[in-house]
Amino acid sequence: MTGKTLLSLHDLRLDHPRAGILLDGVSLTLERGQILGVVGESGSGKSLTGLSVLGLQPTGKLSGRMIFDGQDLTRFGEAEWRGFRGKRAAMIFQDPMTAFLPVRRIGPQIEEQIRLHMTMSRRAARARVIALLGRMGVPSPERMAERYPHELSGGLRQRAMIAMALSCDPELLIADEPTTALDVTVQAQILTLLREIGARDASVMLITHDMGVVSQSCTHVAVLYAGVVIETAPVQKLLATPLHPYTQALLRAIPPLEGPRPDRLPVIEGVPPTPKTRPSGCVFAPRCAAVESRCQTRPAFRERGDHKVACVLYP
Ligand SMILES: Nc1ncnc2c1ncn2[C@@H]1O[C@H](COP(=O)(O)OP(=O)(O)O)[C@@H](O)[C@H]1O
Ligand code: SF4
Ligand SMILES: [Mg+2]
Repeated sequence: MTGKTLLSLHDLRLDHPRAGILLDGVSLTLERGQILGVVGESGSGKSLTGLSVLGLQPTGKLSGRMIFDGQDLTRFGEAEWRGFRGKRAAMIFQDPMTAFLPVRRIGPQIEEQIRLHMTMSRRAARARVIALLGRMGVPSPERMAERYPHELSGGLRQRAMIAMALSCDPELLIADEPTTALDVTVQAQILTLLREIGARDASVMLITHDMGVVSQSCTHVAVLYAGVVIETAPVQKLLATPLHPYTQALLRAIPPLEGPRPDRLPVIEGVPPTPKTRPSGCVFAPRCAAVESRCQTRPAFRERGDHKVACVLYP
C-alpha cells in the first residue's frame, strides 16, 4: 500500500462521436479507506464515471487525467487494463444477473475469477470462495456455492456479486446503484455490508441517485449534474452546509425521515440539460434562482479546504 490518495479524477471529459460530450468536467478524489458517494439524477454521468475508471466507457475521446495509485489510467493499453480490472479495481451493478452466467453454479464462477488473477490451486481457490461468501454474511456459504444464480434471493445474489468483486482483493470497489433493485430491508443490509467493506477491505465508490443512501453510508460525496462535478465534500459538511444552489435544492427535496410529511416537496423547476443542450457557462444556470451575468462563463472548481464547489457565489 502506497500513497493515501487512491484515485483522483481531474477534469475528465468524454466526447462521444454521436451523442456529444457526455462527461464535461468530472473531478473528484478518493482517499484510501473512504466511501465516496457519487450522487446525481438519472443521466448525470454517474455510471459513465464508474465505467471510465475501469476503461469500459463507450467509444469516444476521453481526456483529462485519472490517477490511480500514482499511475494515469488514461494512458493504459489493453494489456494494462486486463491486469487492472477485477484485480486492482472491480465493479458491481444494480442487477447481479449481469455478473453471473445463469447456467453455472455460483462457487465455480467466483473460483474462476480468482484463478484468472491469482496463482492458486483449484482447492485453495474453492476454500477462498467459501471464506469470502462467509465474510459477505451469507448464512451457509458451502450450500450457496452450489446454487445457480436464479435459485438465490436478490439480496443473496447481491452478496455473491460483491464476493466475486472482492475475490482478488481489489483496492477499489465501484458499486453502481447496488441497492436500487432491492426492497428496503435488504437495501439496508447491503449498505451495512458496504460500510464494513469500506472500513475493512477496499475503498468504495458508491454510485447512487439517492441522497438518503449517501447520508447513511458514505464518508465523502461528489455531486454530479449534467456530466459535471459541481461540489465535493465530507458528507457531514455537505449535509450541514451545502454550498452549490443545486446541492441545496437536492437536499431540500429529501423527505424527512421522521414526523409528518410535508404536503409537497420543494422541487427544482425545469429539467437538466442534455449533452446537446448543456450551456457553455454554469451547467445549472437555466434552473438557478441565483443566476447572474457572471454565470455565462463556466465557474472554476474552487477549493475551500476539503470542500470544493463550482459556483460564482464562492470566489
Ligand atoms: N453508450 C452510450 N452511448 C451514448 N450515450 C450514452 C451511452 N451511455 C450513456 N450515455 C449518455 O450519457 C449520459 C450519462 O449517462 P450515465 O452515466 O449512464 O448516467 P447515470 O448513470 O447518471 O444515470 C446520458 O445522457 C446518457 O444518455
Ligand atoms: S454559477 Fe451562477 S448559475 Fe451556477 S449555480 Fe452558481 S449562481 Fe447559480
Ligand atoms: Mg447509471
